Amino acid sequence: MSYNEGMLREGSLKSKNILITGGGTGLGRAMGEYFLELGANLVITSRKLEVLAETAKEMMAKSGGKVVPLACDVRDIAQVEAMWAQCIADFGQIHGVLNNAAGNFISPTERLSANAFNTVLDIVLKGTSQVTLTAGKHWIAAKQPGVFLNIVTTYAWTGSGYVVPSAAAKAGVLALTRSLAVEWAKYGIRSNAIAPGPFPTEGAWSRLLPGDLVKKFDPAKKVPVGRVGVHQELANLAAYLISDFSAYVNGDVITIDGGEWLKGAGEFNNLEMIPQELWDMMEASRGKKP
Ligand code: HXC
Ligand code: NAP
Repeated sequence: MSYNEGMLREGSLKSKNILITGGGTGLGRAMGEYFLELGANLVITSRKLEVLAETAKEMMAKSGGKVVPLACDVRDIAQVEAMWAQCIADFGQIHGVLNNAAGNFISPTERLSANAFNTVLDIVLKGTSQVTLTAGKHWIAAKQPGVFLNIVTTYAWTGSGYVVPSAAAKAGVLALTRSLAVEWAKYGIRSNAIAPGPFPTEGAWSRLLPGDLVKKFDPAKKVPVGRVGVHQELANLAAYLISDFSAYVNGDVITIDGGEWLKGAGEFNNLEMIPQELWDMMEASRGKKP
């Protein structure tokens, strides 16, 4: 067995209808493919209908479930409500929402225009809150249970320079997750989050490691386990958290980053740069033989 393989047993998401924002590309697509393999039906949504339609076609060719592509800019509440109404028209009931859509880029903060800052805030925080509010109101009115799974990142709690709009927005999404986990549990609605470390995708790499940066900066070097993430291992965690197996997990954020953020946080973790010979010399200098 390995982390490249699916973890849950066949049929674990049978008869579940799941909405994935940003489901046409990258990690949203990878998680969706696994949900489908486990018996779910999907609505995948984002701005680009052609991308979604192609993804839906490829997904359905591989697996038995139904995949409905719907265009929706999560920044626009009218589009979100229309998209949700279409989900209900197509499936009758949606059981889970994966808030995965995001926008991001690197920049010194003082170089950002107000519009640049707001664009990222709007996609990540406003987009997530609008999808959440729309789905939550519907579930509560229809007396249906539901599960939210929100994709954040580890700098949601540490913050990070050079991606400040994203850090501020993801921190807001984490607060939203924890707040609603308590407030809406009485309606049978759970909320959890996943904080991934580096998982190569075209969308993230092109914006966070543009141009030559990708050659100069190897994200794997910052990860204690020595590698970047593999999409299937994220999909395994997401499938568990969106399934009924995680019924008692509510309000948590699970980090999947090979120890990356803790490495950056620990005061003396950079001492791994010290070679063994130097440790030998230091031991010798306090009178102990190597
Ligand atoms: C500075 C930038 C910029 C950049 C855009 N802007 N890119 N400013 N540096 N690299 C500015 C523009 O000049 C404009 O401001 C404003 O932002 C809006 O830009 P538009 O191109 O009009 O926006 P839009 O078409 O809505 O596109 C949104 C986007 C784009 C966020 C800019 O990159 C996008 O579509 N992203 C979606 C996918 C994505 O980002 N995926 C990566 C997620 S990775 P002005 O003032 O000129 O009008 C992720 C990983 C986290 O989140 C953790 C990793 C470990
Ligand atoms: P990605 O492929 O670029 O995914 C982002 C998705 O969001 C795209 O499908 C995009 O589709 C959609 N989107 C952007 N703006 C939107 C809007 N206004 N309305 C609706 N959809 C919108 O990048 P990814 O790496 O897979 O990222 C997926 C998630 O993982 C994000 O939440 C990201 O923050 C998180 N994450 C990624 C990493 C990583 O290393 N890859 C690490 C930590 C967290 P359209 O362009 O068609 O709209």
